[in-house]
Amino acid sequence: MIRPPKGPDKRDPLRGKVSPSPAAPVEQAGEARLPKPPQVPQARFLQNLQFSQRQVPFMLRTRRALGDVFQMRGFGSEPGTVVVNHPDHIRSLFTADPQQVATFAGAQLEHVVGPNSILTSIGPRHMQQRRLLLPHFHGEAIEMYNQVGIGATEREIDSWPVSHSFPLVPRLQAITLEVIFAGIFGVWGTPAPGSAEDQLRVALERMVSASTHPFAQLYGLFNRRRGKPSRLTRMALSVVDRPIYALIQERRRADDLTNRRDILSLLLQTQVEQVGLMTDREVRDELLSLLLAGHETTANSLAWTWERLLRNPSVYDRLRDSARACSSNPWIEAIIMEGMRCRPVIPIIGRRVQVPWRLGPYGVPSSTSILISIVLLHHREDLYPLPFDFRPERWLEGRPGTYEWIPFGGGVRRCIGAALAMTEQRIVLETMARRLDLETEDHAPEHTRHRNVTMIPSRGAQAVVRFRYRSS
Ligand code: HEM
Repeated sequence: MIRPPKGPDKRDPLRGKVSPSPAAPVEQAGEARLPKPPQVPQARFLQNLQFSQRQVPFMLRTRRALGDVFQMRGFGSEPGTVVVNHPDHIRSLFTADPQQVATFAGAQLEHVVGPNSILTSIGPRHMQQRRLLLPHFHGEAIEMYNQVGIGATEREIDSWPVSHSFPLVPRLQAITLEVIFAGIFGVWGTPAPGSAEDQLRVALERMVSASTHPFAQLYGLFNRRRGKPSRLTRMALSVVDRPIYALIQERRRADDLTNRRDILSLLLQTQVEQVGLMTDREVRDELLSLLLAGHETTANSLAWTWERLLRNPSVYDRLRDSARACSSNPWIEAIIMEGMRCRPVIPIIGRRVQVPWRLGPYGVPSSTSILISIVLLHHREDLYPLPFDFRPERWLEGRPGTYEWIPFGGGVRRCIGAALAMTEQRIVLETMARRLDLETEDHAPEHTRHRNVTMIPSRGAQAVVRFRYRSS
């Protein structure tokens, strides 16, 4: 649960402005003259435990105590990661020359998706991957995803129980997985039972759900500094890898490879500069990254929005009315944006400065790791008055500032699936609002739970279908 601190209940306006704060690369001598950011007071073990298990209250509490910029306790003699959330500091990191600001994906992510993925590659190789993949998530491609999304949502909804409480997350994941499968493999609808696509689907669902288990969380916490993937990680990955490699082999042999427009076929024909065609391992790394990045995030973002809607009946009523009137309505988009503001599925993103940097009144040396806290930015009271309220009307008057609403990150690492995710969320939200009367039996907000890099609703966004209308 994200609890508001006690304070006066001010009313509108719902959008505000931040006071400017200096942030930019500085000379080493200039950095040395600036004070260091204040440090988190807890012992390292306690800090890490709170950060991994109860990140949101930990972050909110620490900002209240230490201000906009603070430093976590590091490992051994290593300096700790610095946390920022001021839009000017974020702008300086997102717009910097990539030579001056690198990303850090973390060893755990690299163990899963490998070193060749768009998520973990750097420099020219990373830019080449973005140029290759971006068109598959924009423009004309979105229309194909639209069609798949509508069909998948209608079919899913028909299979949901009536009058029984169930978690929305796995059901929404089935929809988003079908959509991303269509883009990646060119497979429409549910794959044939026993096919490699079907085996991959089942393996992915199991892998994602197993990683929520408390054991997996603790295992991850204590193994995150390992240089190599653990035996357990390798065993879990082999179940997913088997059908992926089978699909790669099958597609390499396909007669119509050159005519196909799916991402797998594209990757198999791509020449990597000065190297030649991509190897099976390189293609596997890219496919697994897109599959993982492309379905769990969108499903959980939708689940959070429903978690909020079911606890804010007047917002939900207005959504139902507009969806059933079939009017194209800015209200739907406003709801999605507000859901992503107050429950960003990825709560933090990492960068590493390669030169000394100024962050407000503080200076940090070259090689400092920086966490941009999306949760803290999205709950700034100066920017979003009543930050803990779910108020979609915030967005009716205008778009957010580039560095003020960043659920998709920013700069050269900005999410390549952002346009697809927004379209998918609109389709699913609209179809569900049109065809279902949903309720929740438990009115207490769901807690946040952390799974891999995502923040998900602790009970999977429980809902009850009270009534289901026929598809029109
Ligand atoms: C609501 C849904 C989604 C959210 C909230 C989300 C969020 C994010 C965030 C925060 C990042 C990191 C950006 C940064 O470091 O600045 C990211 C990167 C990425 N996302 Fe998404 N994402 C979503 C959906 C998708 C979808 C549908 C795809 C499709 C495949 C996708 C593919 C990727 C990829 C490939 C990257 C890495 C980009 C790079 O490093 O160049 N995401 N996403």
